[in-house]
Amino acid sequence: MKFETLRGMKDMFSIDVDKYNFIVNTAKKTFDKYGYSNIITPILEETDLFKRAVGDETDVVSKEMYTFMDKGDRSVTMRPEGTAGVVRAYLNAGFHKSSPNVKWYYYGPMYRYEAPQKGRYREFHQFGVESFGIRSPFLDAELITMACEFLNQLGINDLVVELNSLGSVESRIVYIKELQNYLLSNIDKLSNDSKIRAEKNPLRVFDSKDEGDQKVLESAPKLHDFFDEESTKYFEELKSTLYKFNVKYVINPALVRGLDYYCDTVFEIKSSKLGSQSTVLGGGRYDKLTEILGGVKVPGIGFAAGIERLSMIMDESLLEKNDKKIYIAYFEETKDYLLEVLKELRKHDLNVEFEYSLKGFSAQMKKANKIGVNYVIILGENEIKNGKVTFKDFNTGNQEEISITEVIERVK
Ligand code: HAM
Repeated sequence: MKFETLRGMKDMFSIDVDKYNFIVNTAKKTFDKYGYSNIITPILEETDLFKRAVGDETDVVSKEMYTFMDKGDRSVTMRPEGTAGVVRAYLNAGFHKSSPNVKWYYYGPMYRYEAPQKGRYREFHQFGVESFGIRSPFLDAELITMACEFLNQLGINDLVVELNSLGSVESRIVYIKELQNYLLSNIDKLSNDSKIRAEKNPLRVFDSKDEGDQKVLESAPKLHDFFDEESTKYFEELKSTLYKFNVKYVINPALVRGLDYYCDTVFEIKSSKLGSQSTVLGGGRYDKLTEILGGVKVPGIGFAAGIERLSMIMDESLLEKNDKKIYIAYFEETKDYLLEVLKELRKHDLNVEFEYSLKGFSAQMKKANKIGVNYVIILGENEIKNGKVTFKDFNTGNQEEISITEVIERVK
């Protein structure tokens, strides 16, 4: 009997793990500079949290959630995204009362029961940030700038920043009513999915890829025509601040994002290298979410990036090569000396490999070549006598007898 990973999930080995760690470390370094600190929240949450935060009619909630009853008969869900849990944590811990302005980052696995394809998995990993307490176009522009800086640090440069505003929640309510009237008057031309959405959550019709739906949407009322003065001004200021930050963007009026909690600023960053799943990073403002989840008003904004997608397009040459790997070849008579040398090298954090069950000398040298070490240390009887080791540098081909202290100095 052979077990496989579940569909849409995968194991990560060697270079994939190196890339994952590099992406996480690069994100931490970049976001630290902007004052973000780490938050860790559970993978499992009450199902209602996502229903209320992300929205009942979104694809994520209505089709893709990993939901089940736990042994206490509670409906629980493996988080499909990070924002809802982070907002819940913020409210639970009472940050809105004690120190409302906080900036957090998080990373880890997310779960969506989607149709798997390249760049789209059922278990995937996100790196995300959330900033609470401030509503300012400057913060929004800074956040988008920070996102671009992070991607550039990964050597990803062929990016397009798509930007839109959804306006205030109040203006959107008026708009949604108009949009619904329009969609219902064209209901025969809509796909079955969109017929339901037109009834329940008309804005989600914009998520449809169906050609017929897209045609109907071309003549639909335009969201921007319904903006109130404040939202219009906010968007204008955001655009001019982005310009000052030197961030190039394109306005995409059809960008509504697939989650319900957004208002005003929304954005996605796309890479042409990714094919159909081209969005590497997406986010926006959610000033009403704390009210929906906890009855208090705290503005918020954030974004998340898919680590697997970043991994596919990052510049691999940036990965640190481990050029400090040492292989120790030894003989039956020098086993005890091996132990002494090992202890000393490891005390200095050097990466050492050797055979647990002794092989012939040429087999050991072959192995050193195969695993691609940079240095070999040979421990023979002469070396013990002289209190030294034979040190071979694979890069230069030089070989000489030196002390362990000298080995450490050279390798470091
Ligand atoms: P999202 O757009 O649903 O936003 O996901 C963000 C990113 O996660 C996507 O751009 C993509 O790179 C990655 N992603 C999403 N689904 C998959 C999948 N099935 N397989 C692989 N990668 C995937 C959010 O999740 C929001 N919580 C972002 C946010 C934070 N907004 C405000 N704060």
